[in-house]
Amino acid sequence: MTRRILVTSALPYANGAIHLGHLVEYIQTDIWVRFQKMVGNECWYVCADDTHGTPIMLRAEKEGITPEQLIARVHGEHFRDFSSFHVGFDNYYSTHSPETQHYANTIYGRLKDAGLIEVRTIEQYYDPVKQMFLPDRFIKGECPKCHAKDQYGDNCEVCGAAYAPTDLIEPFSAVSGAKPELRNSDHYFFKLSDPRCEAFLRQYTSREHGVLQAEAANKMQEWLGDAGENKLTDWDISRDAPYFGFEIPGAPGKYFYVWLDAPIGYMGSFQNLCSKQGLNFDDFFKPDSSAELYHFIGKDILYFHSLFWPAELQHAGYRTPTKIFAHGFLTVDGAKMSKSRGTFITAESFIEHGLNPEWLRYYFAAKLSATMEDIDLSFADFSARVNSDLVGKYVNIASRSAGFISKRFNGQLAPADTSLPAIKAIQDAAPRIAELYEAREFGKAVREIMALTDAANQYVDSVKPWELAKQEGKEVELHAACTNALNLFRLLTVLLKPILPVTAGKVESFLNIAPLSWADAQTLLAGGHAIQAYSHLMTRVDPKTIEKLIDANKQSLAPTPAPEAHSQQRHAEHQQKEAKKETKAAPSPADADGLCTIDDFMKIDLRIALIANAEHVEGADKLVRLTLDIGEEKPRNVFAGIKAAYDPAQLIGRLTVMVANLAPRKMKFGMSEGMVMAASDPEGKTPGIYLLSPDSGATPGMRVK
Ligand code: MSP
Ligand code: ZN
Repeated sequence: MTRRILVTSALPYANGAIHLGHLVEYIQTDIWVRFQKMVGNECWYVCADDTHGTPIMLRAEKEGITPEQLIARVHGEHFRDFSSFHVGFDNYYSTHSPETQHYANTIYGRLKDAGLIEVRTIEQYYDPVKQMFLPDRFIKGECPKCHAKDQYGDNCEVCGAAYAPTDLIEPFSAVSGAKPELRNSDHYFFKLSDPRCEAFLRQYTSREHGVLQAEAANKMQEWLGDAGENKLTDWDISRDAPYFGFEIPGAPGKYFYVWLDAPIGYMGSFQNLCSKQGLNFDDFFKPDSSAELYHFIGKDILYFHSLFWPAELQHAGYRTPTKIFAHGFLTVDGAKMSKSRGTFITAESFIEHGLNPEWLRYYFAAKLSATMEDIDLSFADFSARVNSDLVGKYVNIASRSAGFISKRFNGQLAPADTSLPAIKAIQDAAPRIAELYEAREFGKAVREIMALTDAANQYVDSVKPWELAKQEGKEVELHAACTNALNLFRLLTVLLKPILPVTAGKVESFLNIAPLSWADAQTLLAGGHAIQAYSHLMTRVDPKTIEKLIDANKQSLAPTPAPEAHSQQRHAEHQQKEAKKETKAAPSPADADGLCTIDDFMKIDLRIALIANAEHVEGADKLVRLTLDIGEEKPRNVFAGIKAAYDPAQLIGRLTVMVANLAPRKMKFGMSEGMVMAASDPEGKTPGIYLLSPDSGATPGMRVK
């Protein structure tokens, strides 16, 4: 029976760039979803930007734009980044949407009707200059325990102490610097301490119930305490204006706290997909729904997903999640991602540096398990694995055999050998590997697949097509050997397809076959089937590219205004605090958002240049030496990597655009005193390099801006 499955990844905040840490989650989810689709299940993958909250409001203000403008821009950036890593959402939406607002209001209304909402007056710090209540993260002061200065309102980064903002010595507002005042305000609480919630959560989060991973279930029992202890505290779901979010119905000036509407954004995104696809929302969200609902999340947001969210759904008359899958955090070379070490790497810069996103998909897959353990990215290990497993072992099987089929057998295959042990081994292993995918044991699946790949290579090594090709009268053996190799390659491609969707697509067109599904692991290509000419499938990782990537991500910046997410432990120890947690402040500084100011841009001195001379460079296979006239006394000498695209003789007398104030660079062949500007496809799909030329009328030395 086909299962009906709805899958989500956590909604990334709309105030920062997607980085490699985020990608652990989106790649993990995407692999799982692709696997479900390959086995023929009905599976929908939805996500959205998490757009509300104080940090987003303040960020937009700082940039001089509206929050709506900020979230629209970031939505485009996030979607671009996910797409470039082949994360195939069925819908990528926004929490700032009518659908999300509808479900937020509905859920709130039903909780209220059930008597689970309570209004209480609380005393809170208020910034009299900025005229707003301050979230804990925007209050700083001296730590009451160790007296370290400049600590946040909820915990000390020096001694680790946790406290209330009111405990800080000489508190000040991180927004305006003003001394905050204590003021009263009415807040709306979701009564998690209500016996109905407690009873439900005890059962829902128990180990036996199996919604949570064992380690997560244990954590929950700790948070819930022993029966009768009732450690759950009510959850503050409102914030005062000014706030960017949804106003609470019937409560002017009060807004839903971002964490109230964020998970509801899953419903909003799915509702939006339903309208587009003609699906029935209730089939998936009614209390007795037989559809499955899975949330992939990081361990830092377990509390929100395993307590508040299911309790809200349950008491508002919706189904609850089938399972919640939490993963660990990404470390790079054993340490937290760091801006100063250059290991805080954005998705965008990874792509811009020409690294293949499937390398990262494969590497993460190889490291992922079903636990909440952190996963470490070691670039040395990354290069070694990709080069040895994917290029050296997997791709190698095709590259060693396809050419003979094309050249010697008119592209046609011999009949398949169904009894070949290496083939049978893969076919026998496929159901086991399917179970590993289903169980999110991707590392184990990769290990099994690579063992099968080794066996396939051993087969090719034993029959040696390259030697058979040289011998007279061995046509039949050569044909059989290469056919077997390609059948093996096709089967391995089925197994790797959830991880390497683009490579699998290339293999499908090279083998001239329909998109592979999981069932294809039990079939072979028919004798006489014609393939296309083989073209290279994947390049090796060049360690120099990695060095450049890390260099480019190195920032020597003053500490950013707010640190990253709290640790898991802190969640456990200070649930009430966590319940009040605002959105984590942007992990990237204001200038790391991919934008440059007009001032930044004006630093680059672009000039119209006349190519006075162009010549080949002895011993260089990419470079052309250009002599550029930009109206200065002496022409500039510039080396340009355009030899593949231009004959130097053709270039002489042309106008182009050069960067005139690039620091001169000593190269093997002499000094390069600038750079000419040319277009090329970053993904290399369309080959070629295209020099820029100005419209006629421009003269050497004119400034370009
Ligand atoms: N907006 C909330 C989630 C709301 S879900 C209803 C949020 N956003 S986030 O941008 O901070 O994180 C999005 C997801 O990425 C979270 O699941 C988080 O755990 C994950 N990760 C962020 N940094 C990460 C690492 N360094 N490593 C692994 N996962 C990381 O939380
Ligand atoms: Zn301290």
